[in-house]
Amino acid sequence: MLKIDAGNIRREKFGEIMLRNDLIKIGRNEPCPCGSGLKYKKCCMNLAAPRPVDMAKLYERRYGIRLKTPHDVEGIRESGRLVLNCLDHQPTHIRPGITTNDLDRLVHDYAVSSNAVCAPLNYKGFPKSICTSVNSVICHGIPSDQVLKEGDIINVDVTLVYKGYYADANKTFIVGEASDDAKKIVSVAAGSLKAGMSMLKPGNTIGDIGWAIQNYAESRKCAVVREFVGHGIGFEFHEAPQIPHYGKRGEGIVLVPGMVFTIEPMINLGKADLFIASDNWTAITKDHKLSAQFEQTFLITETGYESLTPFVL
Ligand code: MF3
Ligand code: CO
Ligand code: CO
Repeated sequence: MLKIDAGNIRREKFGEIMLRNDLIKIGRNEPCPCGSGLKYKKCCMNLAAPRPVDMAKLYERRYGIRLKTPHDVEGIRESGRLVLNCLDHQPTHIRPGITTNDLDRLVHDYAVSSNAVCAPLNYKGFPKSICTSVNSVICHGIPSDQVLKEGDIINVDVTLVYKGYYADANKTFIVGEASDDAKKIVSVAAGSLKAGMSMLKPGNTIGDIGWAIQNYAESRKCAVVREFVGHGIGFEFHEAPQIPHYGKRGEGIVLVPGMVFTIEPMINLGKADLFIASDNWTAITKDHKLSAQFEQTFLITETGYESLTPFVL
């Protein structure tokens, strides 16, 4: 068994790293990570100077994770800018009296005028262009003629495809004057995403992200939803890997440069349990207490991360 230290990468060029003795283990009978097609033991295993690892091939073969090139990242970043524009416009429209259908229409029209496509529309039968999740709705709320009222909280989740590249982000907004409960859950949800972000660098694991989020939220007496997770993104809406918002330190896949995925913790004021409404989409807290969420799309870089949908938390 050999291990690659993804936290101590000597970069040859994007997508390739040199072997190091640490985290990523290669079995002697596995294909050699240099991409030769030979078994590892018949190739680089015993070389004093092993060839560069083809990380893209290794992660695709092992985990189904498609690492992104700088060109891909540029496309996702552009898509992300459009997603952010949609979210930035929300506060000028969100007020008592507006319907969630109105917000859906605004994003849809913006996408059309920007040559982008709203990914949710018709995705596995989803009937609208964005998700709007109000109060005890955790996620996947369907825009409707529901009228927002003073003190509601509403999550607006926007995913766009632009030049073939997907970017995904969401924010929870407060309608008018907020209750203490609303302020608390929105603040803990934002802090949870921040806690997850603090783990984003090569060599850390997916478990570290979940651990940081769970630790942050639960120490504030809030609960982390288990049924929905963050996800790889870029070429498709939902790619490998899954990013749970709970977990154990050091467990799971090692983060490497070129990974692009979302973190999108759904945090409940009461218990974590949920049910799905009869529309087969809307996820609602079982105790009907408030739930909030923030989401961004992240790239793992050589030294840490870049948000491809950056907003201040
Ligand atoms: N945007 C959501 C996410 O963060 C997924 C919505 S799927 C839909 O992954 F079909 F409801 F749009
Ligand atoms: Co997402
Ligand atoms: Co989303």
